[in-house]
Amino acid sequence: MRRPIVAGNWKMHKTAAEAVELVEGIKPLVAGLDVEVVVCPPFTSLQAVRAILANSAIGLGAQNMHWERQGAFTGEISSDMLLAAGCSYVLLGHSERRQFCGEDDSLVNRKLACALQADLCPIVCVGETLQEREAGRIEEVVLGQVGGALSGIEASTARAVLWAYEPVWAIGTGVTATAEQAEEVHAMIRHFLAEHLGKAAADEVRIQYGGSVKPENAAELFAQDNIDGGLIGGAALDAGQFAAIVKAAL
Ligand code: PGA
Repeated sequence: MRRPIVAGNWKMHKTAAEAVELVEGIKPLVAGLDVEVVVCPPFTSLQAVRAILANSAIGLGAQNMHWERQGAFTGEISSDMLLAAGCSYVLLGHSERRQFCGEDDSLVNRKLACALQADLCPIVCVGETLQEREAGRIEEVVLGQVGGALSGIEASTARAVLWAYEPVWAIGTGVTATAEQAEEVHAMIRHFLAEHLGKAAADEVRIQYGGSVKPENAAELFAQDNIDGGLIGGAALDAGQFAAIVKAAL
């Protein structure tokens, strides 16, 4: 039985003071629910949010990290820094980083290896663009990203990875994949993982859906066999909406 997980990706929103206000709003609304809840604020708010999350079951995640543990990498943040800031999770390969920061599968692969070694729980994001979908390339693109991220990573370690299927055309657009469209790709990812990790391990892996998830569409998405929760952008910036989405995963 896979425990549902709902993570909020706050992207480049919220100063530290604003982040505190948001997480103070979220905390009581999701307390005691049997859903793994994670918030991923910007780096500059991690410490402040961590303080509010003390004695709470909500997990703290970062939105990115470097692939080396330390070194001359101006402007970058390492896995050790994230651990010290209280993070247990890290988003990797989000489509905005692939699109705007040139991240490719080999970079995601290096970051993934580093996160796993550091014992940070990685949430690896994959998904096709509208053009790729219309060209009938969903499987090639999405499974290429999954396989690329896992390259050289031992199956026994790879089972700790969380995945987020986020069709690029559904992110921040208000257009959600239908539950059937999302389930089809989630099933495809799980099938691919079964070939690499073995069926029993793949059956335990959690795959979140992301892309315009709202309180109105969350329950139908989360009810699909292979959808184990969500990665939420816009709606995660509103405590009430985020909590409603968390409840839809129960
Ligand atoms: P959205 O973003 O919910 O605003 O579409 C999701 C994401 O990018 O993780």
